[in-house]
Amino acid sequence: MAKVRQKGKTLGFVPTMGALHAGHVSLIKKAREENDIVLVSIFVNPGQFGTKEDLKKYPRPRVKDHKLLKAEGVDYLFEPKAGDMYPVGFSSAVAVGEVPSPCPLPSGERVRVRGISHVLCGKFRPGHFRGVATVVTKLFNLAGACRAYFGAKDYQQSVIVRRLIRDLNLDIELRVLPTIREKDGLALSSRNRYLNPGERKKARAIPETLFWMRNEILHGVRDLPKLRRQGIAQLKQHVDRIDYLEIVDPETLESLEQFQPEMVLAAACYVGKTRLIDNVTIRPSKK
Ligand code: PAJ
Repeated sequence: MAKVRQKGKTLGFVPTMGALHAGHVSLIKKAREENDIVLVSIFVNPGQFGTKEDLKKYPRPRVKDHKLLKAEGVDYLFEPKAGDMYPVGFSSAVAVGEVPSPCPLPSGERVRVRGISHVLCGKFRPGHFRGVATVVTKLFNLAGACRAYFGAKDYQQSVIVRRLIRDLNLDIELRVLPTIREKDGLALSSRNRYLNPGERKKARAIPETLFWMRNEILHGVRDLPKLRRQGIAQLKQHVDRIDYLEIVDPETLESLEQFQPEMVLAAACYVGKTRLIDNVTIRPSKK
Protein backbone atom coordinates (compact mmCIF):
# COMPACT_ATOMS: atom_id res chain seq x y z
CA MET A 1 0.00 0.00 0.00
CA ALA A 2 2.97 2.33 0.57
CA LYS A 3 3.67 2.18 -3.18
CA VAL A 4 0.13 3.32 -3.90
CA ARG A 5 0.61 6.35 -1.71
CA GLN A 6 4.06 7.12 -3.12
CA LYS A 7 2.33 7.57 -6.44
CA GLY A 8 0.10 10.19 -4.79
CA LYS A 9 -3.00 8.04 -5.02
CA THR A 10 -5.69 8.01 -2.36
CA LEU A 11 -6.64 4.80 -0.62
CA GLY A 12 -10.12 3.90 0.63
CA PHE A 13 -10.14 1.09 3.20
CA VAL A 14 -13.19 -0.95 4.23
CA PRO A 15 -12.52 -3.38 7.10
CA THR A 16 -15.05 -6.24 7.32
CA MET A 17 -15.57 -9.72 8.69
CA GLY A 18 -17.02 -10.91 5.38
CA ALA A 19 -20.47 -12.42 4.77
CA LEU A 20 -20.91 -9.27 2.76
CA HIS A 21 -24.32 -7.65 2.29
CA ALA A 22 -25.71 -4.37 0.98
CA GLY A 23 -24.52 -2.55 4.12
CA HIS A 24 -20.90 -3.47 3.35
CA VAL A 25 -21.47 -2.71 -0.32
CA SER A 26 -22.62 0.83 0.50
CA LEU A 27 -19.24 1.40 2.22
CA ILE A 28 -17.33 -0.11 -0.70
CA LYS A 29 -19.22 1.97 -3.25
CA LYS A 30 -18.48 5.17 -1.32
CA ALA A 31 -14.81 4.20 -1.02
CA ARG A 32 -14.76 3.52 -4.77
CA GLU A 33 -16.35 6.90 -5.45
CA GLU A 34 -13.96 8.88 -3.25
CA ASN A 35 -10.58 7.20 -3.82
CA ASP A 36 -8.18 6.00 -6.51
CA ILE A 37 -7.61 2.64 -4.88
CA VAL A 38 -9.98 0.53 -2.75
CA LEU A 39 -8.80 -2.01 -0.20
CA VAL A 40 -11.19 -4.36 1.61
CA SER A 41 -10.18 -6.66 4.45
CA ILE A 42 -12.05 -9.79 5.45
CA PHE A 43 -11.00 -11.14 8.81
CA VAL A 44 -13.29 -12.84 11.30
CA ASN A 45 -11.37 -11.51 14.25
CA PRO A 46 -11.23 -14.05 17.09
CA GLY A 47 -10.17 -11.26 19.47
CA GLN A 48 -13.61 -9.66 19.48
CA PHE A 49 -15.71 -12.77 20.14
CA GLY A 50 -16.47 -13.92 23.67
CA THR A 51 -15.96 -17.57 24.59
CA LYS A 52 -19.67 -18.29 24.34
CA GLU A 53 -20.19 -16.30 21.14
CA ASP A 54 -20.57 -17.33 17.51
CA LEU A 55 -16.93 -17.27 16.27
CA LYS A 56 -17.07 -20.86 14.99
CA LYS A 57 -20.39 -20.57 13.22
CA TYR A 58 -19.87 -17.02 11.95
CA PRO A 59 -20.72 -17.23 8.20
CA ARG A 60 -17.75 -17.38 5.82
CA PRO A 61 -19.12 -17.48 2.26
CA ARG A 62 -15.72 -16.84 0.64
CA VAL A 63 -16.56 -17.54 -3.00
CA LYS A 64 -19.64 -15.33 -2.90
CA ASP A 65 -17.72 -12.55 -1.12
CA HIS A 66 -14.87 -12.67 -3.63
CA LYS A 67 -17.31 -12.44 -6.54
CA LEU A 68 -19.02 -9.45 -4.98
CA LEU A 69 -15.73 -7.63 -4.39
CA LYS A 70 -14.76 -8.20 -7.99
CA ALA A 71 -18.12 -6.92 -9.22
CA GLU A 72 -17.66 -3.77 -7.10
CA GLY A 73 -14.26 -3.10 -8.65
CA VAL A 74 -12.28 -3.52 -5.43
CA ASP A 75 -8.54 -3.34 -6.15
CA TYR A 76 -7.11 -5.22 -3.17
CA LEU A 77 -8.47 -7.82 -0.75
CA PHE A 78 -6.60 -8.47 2.49
CA GLU A 79 -7.69 -11.77 3.98
CA PRO A 80 -5.23 -12.75 6.71
CA LYS A 81 -5.30 -15.88 8.85
CA ALA A 82 -5.59 -15.62 12.64
CA GLY A 83 -1.94 -16.69 12.99
CA ASP A 84 -0.82 -13.83 10.71
CA MET A 85 -2.59 -11.25 12.84
CA TYR A 86 -1.83 -12.80 16.22
CA PRO A 87 1.51 -14.63 16.00
CA VAL A 88 2.54 -16.80 18.93
CA GLY A 89 3.87 -14.51 21.64
CA PHE A 90 1.63 -11.59 20.69
CA SER A 91 1.85 -9.50 23.84
CA SER A 92 2.03 -5.81 23.00
CA ALA A 93 -0.24 -3.45 24.80
CA VAL A 94 -1.33 0.13 24.31
CA ALA A 95 -3.68 1.19 27.04
CA VAL A 96 -5.29 4.32 25.68
CA GLY A 97 -6.40 6.98 28.13
CA GLU A 98 -4.92 5.12 31.05
CA VAL A 99 -1.83 5.78 33.15
CA PRO A 100 0.54 2.93 32.24
CA SER A 101 0.84 0.30 34.88
CA PRO A 102 4.34 0.08 36.44
CA CYS A 103 4.08 -3.71 36.18
CA PRO A 104 4.64 -5.43 32.88
CA LEU A 105 1.24 -5.99 31.30
CA PRO A 106 0.35 -9.63 30.95
CA SER A 107 0.04 -11.03 27.48
CA GLY A 108 -3.53 -10.74 26.34
CA GLU A 109 -3.55 -7.01 27.08
CA ARG A 110 -4.49 -5.23 23.89
CA VAL A 111 -5.37 -1.81 22.58
CA ARG A 112 -7.99 -0.39 24.88
CA VAL A 113 -10.18 2.65 24.64
CA ARG A 114 -11.38 3.21 28.17
CA GLY A 115 -14.79 4.47 29.25
CA ILE A 116 -16.75 4.36 26.02
CA SER A 117 -15.84 0.68 25.53
CA HIS A 118 -17.52 -0.31 28.77
CA VAL A 119 -21.06 0.96 28.23
CA LEU A 120 -23.85 -0.32 25.94
CA CYS A 121 -22.53 -3.42 24.12
CA GLY A 122 -19.32 -3.27 26.16
CA LYS A 123 -21.28 -4.07 29.32
CA PHE A 124 -22.65 -7.26 27.82
CA ARG A 125 -19.66 -8.30 25.71
CA PRO A 126 -16.64 -7.85 28.00
CA GLY A 127 -13.44 -7.53 25.99
CA HIS A 128 -15.30 -7.12 22.69
CA PHE A 129 -14.21 -3.56 21.98
CA ARG A 130 -10.68 -4.28 23.14
CA GLY A 131 -10.64 -6.91 20.41
CA VAL A 132 -12.10 -4.47 17.89
CA ALA A 133 -9.70 -1.65 18.87
CA THR A 134 -6.73 -4.01 18.61
CA VAL A 135 -7.58 -5.44 15.21
CA VAL A 136 -8.59 -2.07 13.78
CA THR A 137 -5.28 -0.54 14.93
CA LYS A 138 -3.38 -3.41 13.31
CA LEU A 139 -5.40 -3.17 10.10
CA PHE A 140 -4.88 0.61 9.98
CA ASN A 141 -1.13 0.10 10.41
CA LEU A 142 -1.12 -2.41 7.57
CA ALA A 143 -3.19 -0.17 5.29
CA GLY A 144 -1.26 3.03 6.13
CA ALA A 145 -2.71 6.49 5.58
CA CYS A 146 -6.16 6.15 4.11
CA ARG A 147 -9.82 7.03 4.29
CA ALA A 148 -11.51 4.32 6.35
CA TYR A 149 -15.18 3.50 5.90
CA PHE A 150 -17.37 2.34 8.78
CA GLY A 151 -21.13 1.91 9.21
CA ALA A 152 -23.32 3.82 11.68
CA LYS A 153 -25.07 0.49 12.26
CA ASP A 154 -22.27 -0.29 14.76
CA TYR A 155 -22.52 3.15 16.32
CA GLN A 156 -20.45 2.46 19.42
CA GLN A 157 -17.71 0.89 17.31
CA SER A 158 -17.53 4.02 15.14
CA VAL A 159 -17.21 6.26 18.21
CA ILE A 160 -14.44 4.06 19.61
CA VAL A 161 -12.58 4.03 16.29
CA ARG A 162 -12.83 7.83 16.08
CA ARG A 163 -11.37 8.15 19.59
CA LEU A 164 -8.62 5.65 18.75
CA ILE A 165 -7.61 7.57 15.63
CA ARG A 166 -7.42 10.80 17.62
CA ASP A 167 -5.64 9.39 20.67
CA LEU A 168 -3.02 7.46 18.70
CA ASN A 169 -2.55 10.14 16.02
CA LEU A 170 -3.33 7.71 13.24
CA ASP A 171 -3.23 9.12 9.73
CA ILE A 172 -6.76 8.03 8.94
CA GLU A 173 -9.78 9.98 7.76
CA LEU A 174 -12.83 8.28 9.23
CA ARG A 175 -16.02 8.17 7.19
CA VAL A 176 -19.15 6.86 8.91
CA LEU A 177 -22.02 6.03 6.56
CA PRO A 178 -25.74 5.53 7.24
CA THR A 179 -27.27 2.19 8.16
CA ILE A 180 -28.70 0.23 5.24
CA ARG A 181 -32.03 -1.43 6.10
CA GLU A 182 -34.39 -4.04 4.73
CA LYS A 183 -37.74 -2.77 3.41
CA ASP A 184 -39.38 -3.34 6.80
CA GLY A 185 -36.65 -1.40 8.60
CA LEU A 186 -34.47 -4.22 9.94
CA ALA A 187 -30.82 -3.18 9.75
CA LEU A 188 -28.81 -5.46 7.47
CA SER A 189 -26.41 -7.65 9.38
CA SER A 190 -24.39 -10.77 8.64
CA ARG A 191 -26.18 -12.29 11.64
CA ASN A 192 -29.68 -11.85 10.15
CA ARG A 193 -29.14 -15.13 8.31
CA TYR A 194 -29.34 -16.96 11.65
CA LEU A 195 -33.01 -15.91 12.00
CA ASN A 196 -35.78 -18.34 11.08
CA PRO A 197 -38.88 -16.84 9.41
CA GLY A 198 -40.73 -16.40 12.74
CA GLU A 199 -37.72 -14.73 14.34
CA ARG A 200 -37.20 -12.56 11.30
CA LYS A 201 -40.71 -11.17 11.76
CA LYS A 202 -40.13 -10.50 15.45
CA ALA A 203 -36.85 -8.70 14.69
CA ARG A 204 -38.84 -5.92 12.99
CA ALA A 205 -39.83 -4.71 16.45
CA ILE A 206 -36.29 -3.39 17.02
CA PRO A 207 -36.29 -0.67 14.34
CA GLU A 208 -40.01 -0.10 14.87
CA THR A 209 -39.44 0.71 18.54
CA LEU A 210 -36.42 2.90 17.88
CA PHE A 211 -38.17 4.87 15.14
CA TRP A 212 -41.29 5.18 17.28
CA MET A 213 -39.21 6.61 20.13
CA ARG A 214 -37.48 9.00 17.76
CA ASN A 215 -40.81 10.14 16.42
CA GLU A 216 -42.10 10.77 19.93
CA ILE A 217 -39.08 12.97 20.66
CA LEU A 218 -39.44 14.80 17.36
CA HIS A 219 -43.06 15.47 18.35
CA GLY A 220 -42.06 17.05 21.63
CA VAL A 221 -41.81 14.23 24.15
CA ARG A 222 -39.14 15.21 26.70
CA ASP A 223 -39.56 12.69 29.53
CA LEU A 224 -36.75 10.40 28.39
CA PRO A 225 -36.87 7.90 31.31
CA LYS A 226 -40.61 7.34 30.70
CA LEU A 227 -40.10 7.04 26.95
CA ARG A 228 -37.33 4.51 27.54
CA ARG A 229 -39.58 2.45 29.81
CA GLN A 230 -42.32 2.53 27.18
CA GLY A 231 -39.84 1.47 24.49
CA ILE A 232 -38.66 -1.44 26.62
CA ALA A 233 -42.27 -2.54 27.27
CA GLN A 234 -43.00 -2.41 23.54
CA LEU A 235 -39.86 -4.31 22.58
CA LYS A 236 -40.40 -6.94 25.28
CA GLN A 237 -43.59 -8.08 23.56
CA HIS A 238 -41.57 -9.29 20.56
CA VAL A 239 -37.95 -10.06 21.37
CA ASP A 240 -36.66 -12.79 23.66
CA ARG A 241 -34.21 -10.75 25.72
CA ILE A 242 -33.20 -7.12 25.89
CA ASP A 243 -29.56 -6.36 26.69
CA TYR A 244 -30.25 -2.64 26.61
CA LEU A 245 -32.38 0.10 25.16
CA GLU A 246 -30.73 3.42 25.90
CA ILE A 247 -30.87 7.06 24.96
CA VAL A 248 -27.27 8.27 24.96
CA ASP A 249 -25.01 11.20 24.21
CA PRO A 250 -23.52 10.70 20.72
CA GLU A 251 -19.92 11.24 21.89
CA THR A 252 -19.66 10.13 25.51
CA LEU A 253 -22.31 7.38 25.10
CA GLU A 254 -23.57 8.28 28.58
CA SER A 255 -27.25 7.59 29.28
CA LEU A 256 -29.37 10.72 29.14
CA GLU A 257 -32.26 11.64 31.39
CA GLN A 258 -32.68 15.12 29.97
CA PHE A 259 -33.45 16.03 26.39
CA GLN A 260 -30.61 17.46 24.31
CA PRO A 261 -30.57 18.34 20.60
CA GLU A 262 -28.27 15.45 19.61
CA MET A 263 -28.96 11.98 20.93
CA VAL A 264 -28.60 8.37 19.89
CA LEU A 265 -31.22 5.73 20.64
CA ALA A 266 -29.51 2.36 20.75
CA ALA A 267 -30.71 -1.17 21.38
CA ALA A 268 -29.32 -4.69 21.61
CA CYS A 269 -31.65 -7.67 21.91
CA TYR A 270 -31.82 -11.35 21.36
CA VAL A 271 -34.33 -12.82 18.95
CA GLY A 272 -34.05 -16.53 19.56
CA LYS A 273 -30.32 -17.08 19.99
CA THR A 274 -29.34 -14.24 17.70
CA ARG A 275 -28.10 -10.96 19.16
CA LEU A 276 -29.07 -7.96 17.07
CA ILE A 277 -28.12 -4.32 17.49
CA ASP A 278 -29.50 -1.15 16.00
CA ASN A 279 -29.59 2.59 16.61
CA VAL A 280 -31.10 5.80 15.31
CA THR A 281 -29.79 9.32 15.69
CA ILE A 282 -31.55 12.53 16.59
CA ARG A 283 -29.95 15.71 15.27
CA PRO A 284 -31.11 19.30 15.43
CA SER A 285 -33.34 19.94 12.41
CA LYS A 286 -31.75 22.00 9.65
CA LYS A 287 -33.35 25.42 9.29
P1 PAJ B 1 -18.63 -6.28 10.04
O1 PAJ B 1 -19.71 -6.62 10.99
O2 PAJ B 1 -18.36 -7.19 8.89
O3 PAJ B 1 -18.94 -4.84 9.49
C1 PAJ B 1 -18.03 -4.19 8.64
C2 PAJ B 1 -18.50 -2.75 8.45
O4 PAJ B 1 -19.79 -2.76 7.82
C3 PAJ B 1 -18.67 -2.03 9.80
O5 PAJ B 1 -18.15 -0.71 9.70
C4 PAJ B 1 -20.17 -2.02 10.00
O6 PAJ B 1 -20.65 -0.95 10.78
C5 PAJ B 1 -20.66 -1.91 8.55
N1 PAJ B 1 -22.06 -2.36 8.44
C6 PAJ B 1 -22.58 -3.52 8.89
N2 PAJ B 1 -23.93 -3.56 8.67
C7 PAJ B 1 -24.23 -2.39 8.06
C8 PAJ B 1 -25.45 -1.81 7.58
N3 PAJ B 1 -26.62 -2.43 7.69
N4 PAJ B 1 -25.40 -0.58 7.01
C9 PAJ B 1 -24.21 0.08 6.90
N5 PAJ B 1 -23.03 -0.41 7.33
C10 PAJ B 1 -23.04 -1.63 7.90
O7 PAJ B 1 -17.77 -4.34 12.14
C11 PAJ B 1 -17.02 -5.28 11.88
O8 PAJ B 1 -17.24 -6.13 10.83
C12 PAJ B 1 -15.77 -5.59 12.68
O9 PAJ B 1 -15.97 -5.22 14.00
C13 PAJ B 1 -14.50 -4.90 12.10
C14 PAJ B 1 -14.61 -3.38 12.11
C15 PAJ B 1 -14.21 -5.41 10.69
C16 PAJ B 1 -13.28 -5.27 13.00
O10 PAJ B 1 -13.12 -6.65 13.08
